[in-house]
Amino acid sequence: MALRDIVTDPNPTLRKKCRPVEVFDEKLGRLLDDMRETMKHADGVGLAGPQVGILRRLAVVEVEDFYIELINPVIVKKSGSQDGPEGCLSVPNRQESVVRPYKVTVDYQDRHGNPMTATAEGYVARAFCHEIDHLDGILYYDLVGKKNAK
Ligand code: NI
Repeated sequence: MALRDIVTDPNPTLRKKCRPVEVFDEKLGRLLDDMRETMKHADGVGLAGPQVGILRRLAVVEVEDFYIELINPVIVKKSGSQDGPEGCLSVPNRQESVVRPYKVTVDYQDRHGNPMTATAEGYVARAFCHEIDHLDGILYYDLVGKKNAK
């Protein structure tokens, strides 16, 4: 495994819409391993492809004992609402309050391409939304002051 450089705002890479992951090979596995290591090293709870310069739809999330690799994730269900502070490894030294759904269900693929579904609440749901936004070039502070949970 190896640490990757984290792209920081205002690098235009962070504003691109990512393409789907189509090849599930060893290279993808190495990328995900590197992303997890990079995220942990930076003391983050999530990291998306564009944050390491990869414009593909993938992200890792790790909150305490829960770790997940989201490949081609799509939010298929959301409910409730939560308001709380959010930050981003690509936007250092900044935190702002963002409204998110309280609970989300995400369809995604694992690193082998198997179709999976995950439901999360609270902080993990917030992390899912934040990381999936990255895949469409959205940064959390774009949502500050917006009342409609996304
Ligand atoms: Ni982020």
